[in-house]
Amino acid sequence: MGLPVREITTPTRRFERVGAHTHIKGLGLDERKRAVKVKDGMVGQEKAREAAGLVVEMIKQGKMSGRLIILAGPPGTGKTALAVAISRELGLNVPFISISGSEIYSAEKKKTEVLIDALRRCIGIEIHEQREVYEGEITKMEILTAPHPYNPYQKIPEGIRLTLKTTEEERTLEAGSEVANQIIQAGIGEGYVIQIDAETGRVSPLGLSIESAKGKTYEVDTRIKVPRPTGKVKKQKEFVYNLTLADLDEMVAKRRSSSIFSFFFGGAEEKEISPEVRMEVDRQVREWVDQGKAIIHPGVLFIDDAHLLDLEAFSFLGKAMEGELVPIIILATNRGVTKIRGAEIEAPLGFPLDLLDRAVIIGTEEYDKESIRAILKIRSEEEKVTLTQEALEALASIGQRTSLRYAVQLLSIAAQNARIGGKDKVTEEDVKRVDELFMDVSEAVQHLKKYEDRLLKH
Ligand SMILES: Nc1ncnc2c1ncn2[C@@H]1O[C@H](COP(=O)(O)OP(=O)(O)OP(=O)(O)O)[C@@H](O)[C@H]1O
Ligand SMILES: [Mg+2]
Repeated sequence: MGLPVREITTPTRRFERVGAHTHIKGLGLDERKRAVKVKDGMVGQEKAREAAGLVVEMIKQGKMSGRLIILAGPPGTGKTALAVAISRELGLNVPFISISGSEIYSAEKKKTEVLIDALRRCIGIEIHEQREVYEGEITKMEILTAPHPYNPYQKIPEGIRLTLKTTEEERTLEAGSEVANQIIQAGIGEGYVIQIDAETGRVSPLGLSIESAKGKTYEVDTRIKVPRPTGKVKKQKEFVYNLTLADLDEMVAKRRSSSIFSFFFGGAEEKEISPEVRMEVDRQVREWVDQGKAIIHPGVLFIDDAHLLDLEAFSFLGKAMEGELVPIIILATNRGVTKIRGAEIEAPLGFPLDLLDRAVIIGTEEYDKESIRAILKIRSEEEKVTLTQEALEALASIGQRTSLRYAVQLLSIAAQNARIGGKDKVTEEDVKRVDELFMDVSEAVQHLKKYEDRLLKH
């Protein structure tokens, strides 16, 4: 195999900006995939949740790759919450990456570069590798030394003689200085269970053998304990690595840039991965898949506030979706008809028509007061805030008058206000006070309008 895949990494970085959505544990569907009014932290919005449930099933069956899903609905109606729920339903094996439309405008990277990197983080590659290893508990160990070539009075490790024991046999091996050095550096000694890769000589300590004298002596011991390996000392083992295309890109790029020139001129640490590197990775992955060594798990790229993308970004996404190794893309927007950034034309949802043609659209609706109340109740439990009945009622009215999002934010601030006042319960007064101190968006617009005339005169 061409790529230096040696590390077992955990699946990709997950959804991070979840502060306001920690109460969402899933889509809250029953066995028949119908929405239960209140379940998994989700309230109401049944149609959107059931639609999302179908999407999740298709993603799990690998039938959705390269498709586009749009979440469309007014502000604060749970589009981001729905995307979080989808990621929870997909589980840990499916990469789920979330970015905001505004994140593509960075000073350091090209827009398309940010997008391509995000897309490649969403493609999980599960690599299976059969490797020959020596494995066993060390029962005897002897470092073989030789005089240092420049200083004959100093001795350096030249090799190692190891006796490894399994439940079935005991074998003595000899290895060179590379293996010896790894063992010395890791502080491994008798009683440890180790694995040595037969081809590369890489040593992996697995822990202290439970059956060894050391493993039995110390009662309080923080070292990991493992059973003595079964079978033969030399054996074929299957290793599974979970990586993403982006991880492989980084590995290959690092290997390429570690040339002698980077040593002299420094900083060959590239900010951007070159197209050649990506092509090499794609070729390698295809080869692995053809050989039955790798399985591809297309994940999900969620772009929140996607109306912030511009025409260039949209056409890039459109083209990318025609490729082979692409994730499912979910875009969320709260715009109706609006101008696409970087273009003069107006378009529905602020998206180009050819993209809309390929998409399935899930709509979210405004909430009634009852649902708003139920969501606020869940949020208060999530934030460990106790509300009086009147306070909850007041917040629910505010949510209905302004937006759910504003009411959810006010809830945290009202709790802070109560805490400052030395109370352990949030009352209606707390809610009223913070509602007066802060503004929702339409209040802020009114507020600024008052000043507009004056500002224009300057
Ligand atoms: N159906 C729901 N069940 C439970 N909580 C919800 C639901 N819908 C929204 N919420 C919560 O209400 C708050 C506002 O919703 P969210 O941020 O998801 O709205 P949005 O549609 O993404 O808004 P915007 O268009 O402003 O981005 C969040 O805290 C979210 O977790
Ligand atoms: Mg949102």
